[in-house]
Amino acid sequence: MDQLAERYRLSKAIAKEAGKLAADFYHNRKKLNIEKKKGDGQDLVTIADKTTEEFIRKQINHYYPQDTIFGEESGLTVGQSKSTWVIDPIDGTSAFIFGLPSWCISIALIDEQQNTQIAVIYDPIHDELFHALRGHGAYLNEDKIFVNQVNSLNEGLLGVGISTRLSPDKIIPFLDNLLHAGGMFVRNGSAALMLAYVAAGKLIGYYEPHLNSWDCLAGLLLIQEAGGVTNNFKSDPNFLLNGNYVLTSSSEIYDTLASFLMK
Ligand code: IPD
Ligand code: CA
Ligand code: CA
Repeated sequence: MDQLAERYRLSKAIAKEAGKLAADFYHNRKKLNIEKKKGDGQDLVTIADKTTEEFIRKQINHYYPQDTIFGEESGLTVGQSKSTWVIDPIDGTSAFIFGLPSWCISIALIDEQQNTQIAVIYDPIHDELFHALRGHGAYLNEDKIFVNQVNSLNEGLLGVGISTRLSPDKIIPFLDNLLHAGGMFVRNGSAALMLAYVAAGKLIGYYEPHLNSWDCLAGLLLIQEAGGVTNNFKSDPNFLLNGNYVLTSSSEIYDTLASFLMK
């Protein structure tokens, strides 16, 4: 097995194990001490996020000690190899804390040119493992998945996200345009999971005015491999540390959605 295929196999196994660990915390969440990040009342973190990231880091380190790791909770650990793992140990922390099942583990692997090669998103509550290796299609567990190639906005639901990192003004005009055009939106609290749902054809697209790289690199590769269109998240040369906006859908409705960002 080549190095990439071996990392792909490993990333799926790690995501599943990490999912079990996080699910134990989820089922015992009443015991968790909830901390606020940066004093922001809605940006929460618990020991579940930190322990899950630590577990993923240890596993990667064990098999690939030379790889770079960039995780939401512990930041950047630079290694000597050409591979960088980008990790969100729990995406959907608010949902997790409040007892909603829409959260997941998200792991991406990027190469020297910062192209995502491997994507894994695991929802342990529903035992759904979304995964992709660049050039080899996207899968939900064993089944190949495809973006829903709708022709108009009223043929399905669009995932939308907003965080307290941004002013509400950054999303309201988009929603206004979407609703006036006959579209409808959902927000489940996990951008990574909603991106996986776009890849699987459950949502017709996704928009969020700012995501961090750990929230979306895995989801974006899944969607590309499933036949969808995405904006160029790498248009900011420092996208790994700064993040960027995310717009994605089937090709037929992409330009309409993109026009909503101009109005
Ligand atoms: C958040 C979720 C949310 C999105 C935010 C993210 P977290 O990640 O993905 O859906 O709207 O932008 O920060 O904090 O749950 O890992
Ligand atoms: Ca996240
Ligand atoms: Ca997180």
